[in-house]
Amino acid sequence: MKTRIAIFASGSGSNAQKLMEHFKRSDDAEIVLVLTNNPDAYVLQRADNFEIPTHVFNRDEFYRSEEIINLLERLDIDLIVLAGFLWLVPKTLIQKYPGRIINIHPALLPKYGGKGMYGDHVHNAVIAAGETEGGITIHYVNENYDEGEYIYQGRYRIEKDDNLEMVKFKGQNLEHTQFPKVIESVVKKLKK
Ligand code: GRF
Repeated sequence: MKTRIAIFASGSGSNAQKLMEHFKRSDDAEIVLVLTNNPDAYVLQRADNFEIPTHVFNRDEFYRSEEIINLLERLDIDLIVLAGFLWLVPKTLIQKYPGRIINIHPALLPKYGGKGMYGDHVHNAVIAAGETEGGITIHYVNENYDEGEYIYQGRYRIEKDDNLEMVKFKGQNLEHTQFPKVIESVVKKLKK
């Protein structure tokens, strides 16, 4: 039986795309659903291109009902991957999927994490601090933003004259190559 993965994303979904490409060819796992809080998110188009079903939800549905959990259970979801998902995951969902929700963050946590630290805010803060090294963190999700146990951290060099675009580019490259591999390794561990 393949591990059944649901992806939550709020925006472009370039990482979701890499996961969809990777697991399309995998014998271990498959992406069976893409969920978003944002009806305009480009990730919806990407999922359509892979013929993966999507679900758009609002705040009430996510925080005040059991609808999302019911949907995930109905589809026998084993693993949840957050790929650029901006809302805090409610406790009820974390309790249903202990150790089975994973997030990717575009910085070397615990630095540059927490509420409001997403997208360009992260990279701008890293540049403003004069860091010579950037990185990414892939981690389990607990009830606080960006605080669960780390699974993987990867690093890249920041040169003196690197601007926002350059830092973003380096970070994204690392995310795109590592995220599918790390999720694959988590899937293999879950099967043992
Ligand atoms: C990524 O940088 C990820 O680390 C963060 O949100 C961004 C999502 O980008 N959590 P994309 O939507 O996958 O292009």
